[in-house]
Amino acid sequence: MPEKKSTAKKKITSFSLKKDYVDAIDTLAQKSNQTRTEIVESYLQNAINDINNINGKPMIITVMSFKGGVAKTTSAANLALCLGRRGKDVLIIDLDGQGSISQYLGVYDPRAEETCIADVMLNNARGERLGIADVVRDTKFEGVSIVPSSFKFSDADSRMRSEVAPGIDSRLQHAIEDLISVMHFDYIIIDCPPSLGLVVTNAITALDAGNANSLIVIPVRVDGFAIAGLSNTISTIESVAHERRTPVRKWRILRTIAETRSVAYKTGLKMIKDQFPSVDFFNTCIPKATSVVESTLAMEPLVEYDKESKPAEAYERFADEIEGLNG
Ligand SMILES: Nc1ncnc2c1ncn2[C@@H]1O[C@H](COP(=O)(O)OP(=O)(O)OP(=O)(O)O)[C@@H](O)[C@H]1O
Ligand SMILES: [Mg+2]
Repeated sequence: MPEKKSTAKKKITSFSLKKDYVDAIDTLAQKSNQTRTEIVESYLQNAINDINNINGKPMIITVMSFKGGVAKTTSAANLALCLGRRGKDVLIIDLDGQGSISQYLGVYDPRAEETCIADVMLNNARGERLGIADVVRDTKFEGVSIVPSSFKFSDADSRMRSEVAPGIDSRLQHAIEDLISVMHFDYIIIDCPPSLGLVVTNAITALDAGNANSLIVIPVRVDGFAIAGLSNTISTIESVAHERRTPVRKWRILRTIAETRSVAYKTGLKMIKDQFPSVDFFNTCIPKATSVVESTLAMEPLVEYDKESKPAEAYERFADEIEGLNG
């Protein structure tokens, strides 16, 4: 019987380099005051980064609004799924202790026994935190991973305030910077809670870890009440920039749960344009539809639950716009 060829990869335990290469490494080592091993490791790391395209930074999209129930979570989840289905690597970060997006994507842990965003953002009793890479989980949706949340994160704002640690407003930014040096993502979408404390400040400063196209998406349910929540949200974006002496981060309004023919919508839109004349809107407007509420009850993102529905088609167009902004 002919001997079966092993298909297992052979582990290379030793190898020799051409003398020219060894000389070049030695010259570099002398010039940079590094050891031969350090030189070789840094070149290999660059090669690995090129292979994984890790050097290409993700577009970070922070979905935020002080106002509750304006479709932050619905928009973040459906955008992520649309991008994932187009072959993009997408990471969702659930910053809301309610864990709605984690539930929506089927990874919610009601007993909060598994690691989650709380372990990344809050110090444990020994003053330690995990890296995001230790907490990233796959979802059942193509291309979409998630850092879930749980009720362990519901008092995050007050716990972070009590820590009074330097750099506490950039914890998420630094955690993402560490993550993207080892894992590749095209898009990182951050779903915020309806508040304006340190958690949301972290979601704003986190944009600095992304590429130049990174931006804040403010979902607005356009009606007579929209303007108050919007003013607070924009003031927070501006005050974070002022405190950090950085330019104001780019933001754009996504009109959600829209009843474009109603008087409330028309009046609300006029109020927004009067108060913020240079405001940028996404062209896409997500219409109000019962299919969205049904998809929430079924705990299944709309673009999976009812692909043909008007809001699902609108989320596809929203994803087109996001891809367009990302070049
Ligand atoms: N286009 C829509 N048409 C009808 N209902 C919608 C639409 N989009 C979202 N909803 C419903 O509005 C409710 C709030 O949506 P969602 O949870 O996404 O808002 P949110 O801003 O994340 O809320 P929170 O501030 O509590 O985090 C949900 O019941 C959702 O199903
Ligand atoms: Mg939400």
